[in-house]
Amino acid sequence: MNSTSSFNAEEHQKMLRSYFNGNGFNRWSSIYGNEKLSTVRTTVRQGHAVMMDRAFEWLQQLNLPDNSTVLDAGCGTGLFSIRLAGNGYNVKAVDIAAQMVNKSREEAISKGVEDKINFEVNTIESVKGTYDAVVCFDVLIHYPAEGFIEAFTNLASLTKGPIIFTYAPYNRILAFQHWLGGFFPKKERRTTIQMITDENMKKAMEQTGMVVKNREKISFGFYHTMLMYAERK
Ligand SMILES: C[S@@+](CC[C@H](N)C(=O)[O-])C[C@H]1O[C@@H](n2cnc3c(N)ncnc32)[C@H](O)[C@@H]1O
Repeated sequence: MNSTSSFNAEEHQKMLRSYFNGNGFNRWSSIYGNEKLSTVRTTVRQGHAVMMDRAFEWLQQLNLPDNSTVLDAGCGTGLFSIRLAGNGYNVKAVDIAAQMVNKSREEAISKGVEDKINFEVNTIESVKGTYDAVVCFDVLIHYPAEGFIEAFTNLASLTKGPIIFTYAPYNRILAFQHWLGGFFPKKERRTTIQMITDENMKKAMEQTGMVVKNREKISFGFYHTMLMYAERK
């Protein structure tokens, strides 16, 4: 924590760990699963799938050599990790919530790709290693600017190539009341979505020596996010 802000990284991680091992696990594993959902949540599932398809396309365009390793930072229930593994990539799948990692492992076993994935309960701020690419979807949206920059700095230092990630750009008019998760009726079930200003994004890029190569706004029903592709200058 620094003197100009009340952000406390440790407390924030503790809150996220607890949420994603509890209510958050139930909520997101149903969205990322196959069970029948409300219309609103169905659009979140569909929007998330659109985002992942686009991110996968960007990754494939890199033509990475066989046996490349991709870090899936904040892997959730393993949707993207399993897709990567099924397409020949080696994967490091990391999540702060043990329940998410266990679910990812179960899913990977059921798809027969567990040998391609190295699972770890860890945070995006602390994970180590060197990877051909790093992906981080719908995780950084839970971080205010300071935490975002810290986590992004670590992830950027781990990639030899791109970092492909989503975030919530700041929008003064809409204030993104309906931003991913923020529309659910029960307050306690909400995920707080944090918006990042252009200025802070610029700072994160400058600090890490990264440059934005591609971006695409993904809006589908109640799912809204910015998908970004950055790599070292
Ligand atoms: C909304 S889910 C997205 C999961 C996955 N990336 C996807 O798009 O399918 C957010 C995930 O980020 C994880 N997470 C949140 N903060 C994290 C952190 N600091 N380090 C690692 N994982 C984190 C949560 O446990 C949760 O699984």
